[in-house]
Amino acid sequence: MQRVIHTPDIAKQLGLLGHGALMRPNGYGRRFAAKLEIDQSIVDELFSRFGLVWEMEEPDLGHFIGNNYLMGAHVHVHTDPAPEGFHHVRCNVAIEMPKFGGKPVLDGVELDVGEGDAWICFSSIEEHSSTPVRNGDRVVVSMASLIEKHIAESAYGKLAPKISAT
Ligand SMILES: [Fe+2]
Repeated sequence: MQRVIHTPDIAKQLGLLGHGALMRPNGYGRRFAAKLEIDQSIVDELFSRFGLVWEMEEPDLGHFIGNNYLMGAHVHVHTDPAPEGFHHVRCNVAIEMPKFGGKPVLDGVELDVGEGDAWICFSSIEEHSSTPVRNGDRVVVSMASLIEKHIAESAYGKLAPKISAT
């Protein structure tokens, strides 16, 4: 299973959706809109490109669009909750990336993600964050699924070998 894939076709469809989202403030230099309505065929397609079957809606945030727009804004290190028996899994698509920073960091490893790329985050298993943005906006659409624990853990164990942190 790949950690990062190139999905410009999906990014293009989601980019249009982003323009209509009403975003709320979410800490320094950040805003987001949760519980986005995204055509299920797009969600299914993205999860399938990572070799997973979308299973169940994630009740807290659902699918969301997040924007880091001020110098130094970033996502702090955290994990996300999941109900008993499930993991919280997110496929994220980079719609727009700043000139510097805005890169996802998963389990302490920074991923080289550019516009039009998607990455998978086992967000109830691994710590995740992003590097501070500089010179431009970071716009990410995040699609969530609750996935049965044993399926998610098996997929997580099959991730392509991690690239060393730089
Ligand atoms: Fe998260």
